[in-house]
Amino acid sequence: MNAANNIKPVRKAVFPVAGLGTRFLPATKVMPKEMLTLVDRPLIQHAVEEAQKAGIEEFVFVISPGKEMLKDHFTPHKELNKALEARGKTQELQKLESFEIAEGKLHLAYQDEPLGLGHAIWCAREFIGDEPFAILLPDDVVLGDKPCLSQMIEAYNATGGNLVAVVDVPKEDTRKYGILDIASDDGKLVDIKGLVEKPEPQDAPSTLSVIGRYILQPEIFEKLESHEKGAGGEIQITDAMAKLIGAQPFHGLRFEGTRYDCGHHLGFIEANIAFGMQNSNIGPQVTEILAEYQNSAFPAKAGTL
Ligand code: G1P
Repeated sequence: MNAANNIKPVRKAVFPVAGLGTRFLPATKVMPKEMLTLVDRPLIQHAVEEAQKAGIEEFVFVISPGKEMLKDHFTPHKELNKALEARGKTQELQKLESFEIAEGKLHLAYQDEPLGLGHAIWCAREFIGDEPFAILLPDDVVLGDKPCLSQMIEAYNATGGNLVAVVDVPKEDTRKYGILDIASDDGKLVDIKGLVEKPEPQDAPSTLSVIGRYILQPEIFEKLESHEKGAGGEIQITDAMAKLIGAQPFHGLRFEGTRYDCGHHLGFIEANIAFGMQNSNIGPQVTEILAEYQNSAFPAKAGTL
């Protein structure tokens, strides 16, 4: 508890990772979508490291049966460590240790049926208990100087209540996201008076959309309890959040950085280019390669996308 303003700290984070990754088949036939590599690390590691940098202490992965490998990625691999040690591969060992999650701090919650994002979050309730928590959707990756969740926690420490990260999207894209109804907007912090999940452009109250980063109060679980279905016939976190507005502060934060939507192929390829270009080891070469390709023409071949 922050004695100055009664704001409880955010110590826990939920990662909804139960999906089948159908859009990425066949790549995701055996391997979870969240294990796909963005430059040098799987998507899930990008999200977990962002949370670790923001001071998160406990991690809840909401998975479906068969995706336990996501936990293995964050626990020590004894045989591999031994082999690396025997070969004197100290740097590689350190690299692996740098993102491990201590025993007892990573929990698996099971979502047995794909009933929607709201339902996935509800499945984590016992691990969260009665405290505020963060949600990170690993499909959304943010490139910037300061991790997105760190920026959010900083803002939350002043506002309290609930906070979502937001970006402006083209009008025709409102049907892909949770959209804000804005009470007031100072250019950085937005006071929210309503939220709509995936409205058609003509019905959207604004073009400001929620990205996959949330800080929510535990009362959200009461709102999710009814398992009411919303857009797409799914239990939506957006609908549950909308019910909290008025009872608790609700803000949107225009964060600094660029969001990449790795939930579809083009966004994922774009993220690989952007993260590759800004990588301190290979950045200059990636930029060179891109410049070479810019002037080349490749005839289209049959693809599976
Ligand atoms: C989810 C949320 C949506 C949010 C989006 C951010 O949608 O339901 O409100 O804007 O994530 O990426 P999904 O991408 O799961 O369809």
